[in-house]
Order: sequence, then structure tokens, then C-alpha cells
Amino acid sequence: LDMPPPAESAVAELRATPPRPPRPQASHKGHWGDIAVIGGEGLARRGRGMTGAAQLAATAALHAGAGRVMLCLLDEGALSALPEQAELMLRRFEAIDPQRSTVVCGCGGGEAVQTVLPEVLEHSARLVLDADALNRIAADAELRTRLQRRQQSHRATVLTPHPLEAARLLGTDAHSVQADRIAAARALVAAFGCTVILKGSGSIIAAPDRTPVINTTGNARLATGGTGDVLAGLCGARLAVVPDPFEAAVTAVQEHGAAADHFPPAQALTALRLAQALQP
Ligand code: APR
Ligand code: MG
Repeated sequence: LDMPPPAESAVAELRATPPRPPRPQASHKGHWGDIAVIGGEGLARRGRGMTGAAQLAATAALHAGAGRVMLCLLDEGALSALPEQAELMLRRFEAIDPQRSTVVCGCGGGEAVQTVLPEVLEHSARLVLDADALNRIAADAELRTRLQRRQQSHRATVLTPHPLEAARLLGTDAHSVQADRIAAARALVAAFGCTVILKGSGSIIAAPDRTPVINTTGNARLATGGTGDVLAGLCGARLAVVPDPFEAAVTAVQEHGAAADHFPPAQALTALRLAQALQP
């Protein structure tokens, strides 16, 4: 593992979640961004239906205030099924305008995400890569090169690995990632040149030329399936309106944790409920 030397600056801790900026009276949905969530392989392919992951990310983006949210499920059969959230717009991949949209790619993507990644990496203006998008990139040298090349054009990219996904990207194991999480986040930034959210208790947000920060919002109630997908969608919603991807990532992680901290204690925190509790 090629770890960069520790930076001299201290790592900042974040607790206070800054209030969201007010919505200008005359704003219309175009101001708040188009989010395209790409993922959600259907059951037919490998007997592992994961359309819920993409729906959770899309629902999170919607509740976080995005102007329009498009859902692109990587499965023909799933496309005809209406998502329960009626505001989500179903789109075929070919019908998404990656230049205009903020793309969230990989939630429940399965192997199907491999076929769309070259175009997503090349054309999307703002991009969040999660779950199977990260796993495919880890497994494919050409995709890694495409991701690295993308950064030369300074387009906003946020990677949201959990420790095992981070380990795959770094060619190590999750234990080594967890042994020095800040070093692992820095190594990912050095390798790919993008903003990185290394998830888990005390998520770390790191980016080129920025002091990494440790998030202190959130709690163990987040340890339930799908909360990572909610973060990816929220991150997309913030990236659509916050020009600096590091700032967008920091805000998203803080808000995600704060939503869990404020969640009613008497109710089970599920990923869907968390998505619906997000604020614009
Ligand atoms: N304290 C604070 N935050 C936590 C804690 C905790 N104890 N546990 C989990 N979280 C937060 C993480 O920081 C992250 O934001 O919950 C989220 C969990 O995200 P993931 O690990 O991606 O979990 P999940 O959404 O269930 O995704 C798992 O997605 O990564 C793919 O294919 C993989 O099937 C897997 C699925
Ligand atoms: Mg996940």
C-alpha cells in the first residue's frame, strides 16, 4: 500500500451542521439541479435484485431538495415498474443528459454498471461514485485510468467508499484501511485526485489540497442496510448546487449524521425513513 506521508496540518473535527441557505423566492426547479441516479440491477441478472438501493439514493436526493430526480435502473424489466415515490422520473441510460445532470452512479449497480461507467466517467459534469461503481473501478485498470484522466479536466467527482470498497480501490484489506483511516482516505485522494468520503463511524472527508476532516455527527443507528445509498443521493443533491465538491461532501456527511441524531428514538431508523427525514 503506497501511503503518502502524514500532512503537518491537524485533522479538523466537524459537529455543527450549518443551516442550509434559504431558497430564493423566485427560484425554479432548474436552480436546484437535475440528479440522475444510475444503478439498481434487477433480480433477473444474478438473482440479486438491488433496485431498492438506487431508489433510496433517488428518494434521498428528492427530499434533500433537488429540482428533478431521474432514476435509471440498469434493468429492462425494472424500468417499467413505477417507483413508490411518484416524483421520481424513470429514464433509460441513453435518455440521461450527463452534461446537465449531477450523476450518482453505482448504488446497487451490480455488474451491469460496468457497461455505463466509461460514458459516465467521460461525460458527467458532476459525479458521485458509490458501491458497485467503485467495485468495478477497483477491478478494472482501464476504468481506473479513465477516472484519473477525468480529474485532469477538474470536473467534480466524489467517491463514497465504505472500508471494504476503499480497500478494494487501494489493493489492500479492510483491516488495514480501518487501522489508519485518515491515511487510507489520503491514499485514495492521491491515487484518484478526487474528493473522498471514507464512510463508517467518524466518516473522513478528504480532497486534494484540503485538510481532511472527521465527521462527528451520526450514530450506530445508521448501521442498517441502505443508509449509504441515502448518503450518495444526498451528496448528489448538494454537489448539484455547491460548486466545491469537498464542501458539498462535508455538508452531505454532516447532514446525513445529523438526520440520524435527530431521528425519533421510539422509531426504528430505516434507510427509507432517513431519506424522507432529510431537509432541503
Ligand atoms: N456510526 C456512524 N455512522 C455509521 C455507523 C456508525 N456506527 N455505521 C454506519 N454508518 C454510516 C456510514 O458512515 C455510511 O454513511 O452509515 C452509512 C453506511 O453505508 P454503507 O456501508 O455503504 O452501507 P449500505 O448503505 O447498507 O450499503 C451496503 O452497499 O456498499 C454496497 O454492495 C454493498 O451491499 C452493500 C451495500
Ligand atoms: Mg453502500
